[in-house]
Amino acid sequence: MPRPFPFPLRTDTPLYLAPMAGVSESPFRRICRRFGADVVVTEFLSAEAIRRENEATLAKLRFGEDERPIGVQIFGADATAMGDAARLVSDVFQPEFIDINFGCPVKKVVKRNGGSGCLKDLGLVESVIRAVSAGTTLPVTVKIRSGWSEDMRNPVEIALRCQDAGATVLTLHPRTRAQMYSGAARWDEIAAVASALEIPVLGNGDIKTPEDAVAMRRQTGCAGVMIARGSFGQPWIFDQTRDLLEGREKRAAPPVRERFAIALEHAHMADEFELDPRGAAVEFRKHLGWYVKGLPGSADLRKKLYAVHSVSEVEAIFDDYLSQPYGARHGEDDVADTANDVADNAIASAA
Ligand SMILES: Cc1cc2nc3c(=O)[nH]c(=O)nc-3n(C[C@H](O)[C@H](O)[C@H](O)COP(=O)(O)O)c2cc1C
Repeated sequence: MPRPFPFPLRTDTPLYLAPMAGVSESPFRRICRRFGADVVVTEFLSAEAIRRENEATLAKLRFGEDERPIGVQIFGADATAMGDAARLVSDVFQPEFIDINFGCPVKKVVKRNGGSGCLKDLGLVESVIRAVSAGTTLPVTVKIRSGWSEDMRNPVEIALRCQDAGATVLTLHPRTRAQMYSGAARWDEIAAVASALEIPVLGNGDIKTPEDAVAMRRQTGCAGVMIARGSFGQPWIFDQTRDLLEGREKRAAPPVRERFAIALEHAHMADEFELDPRGAAVEFRKHLGWYVKGLPGSADLRKKLYAVHSVSEVEAIFDDYLSQPYGARHGEDDVADTANDVADNAIASAA
């Protein structure tokens, strides 16, 4: 009998919004919670920066009550710093759990053995998990890749070591660090890890549609699924997935007018959340691009949206679009399968 999730949940099969640097910020997390994400996780935050109380990093730790249950994800290869960061986060912010990032493939992180860099040394993985567990009374969860490289690919061994060291939930993104985001996520590895572990295992990787999420769950027996790029511009993927999991017909994606209203609400939230409003608009442009991807005339629309400096400019662009015949006539097109191209760009900019 698998162990339960270590915090209360409203469902047996939780749908998680993945941690994503520059994307899974508080406003997007709140939007996704509203559209059916059961759990959200912050983007990864450096343990060293938390420990030094770096202002920009602490600002990223802010979250609203409507985001709970929420996990704060930390990374670093220094077990003491990771334990200290876990203590500070637990004392000051009180999320439901602390998640350790053992998956980040980005060069500036792995060169100090952070993120997936830890996967080269499973003794280090264990000591980091033990130090974080000693620093907090909150549940500690981990997110891993399948290994550092093809030679060192061994997700079951890595996962068992994480469980032994005290991880209470494990997410597997079944690619190696060497693969970065290329090739397909190997869902068979999620199945192998889910059957080897007693703790709940979350499957992650290549869920682009609600149907993919259901297929992953069926094929792997994972306890829940985590969605990253598939949520871009379509936070309702969570509600749609829930519909399918519960045997209902999937609800339709919102029509264009409603989609614009959601994008605007998201933009207002970002504007309020960010300390620098001009920076907020610039940061927000990528979300705008994702919300309009696939609409008729979207290339032109995107060009305009990528130049905005304020939410009122976004409003004017949307009003103008809706007043044009092609916007009104064809605006109900489905954009569900467009997140992929967008994701490629996001990964390129994140790396
Ligand atoms: C823009 C971007 C930023 C990411 N940042 C993080 C991060 O901060 N922490 C983390 O564990 N994974 C991060 N990831 C990886 C995702 O959480 C996820 O494991 C990966 O994208 C595979 O899932 P998907 O196929 O649903 O996108 C990031 C991915 C993207 C696209």
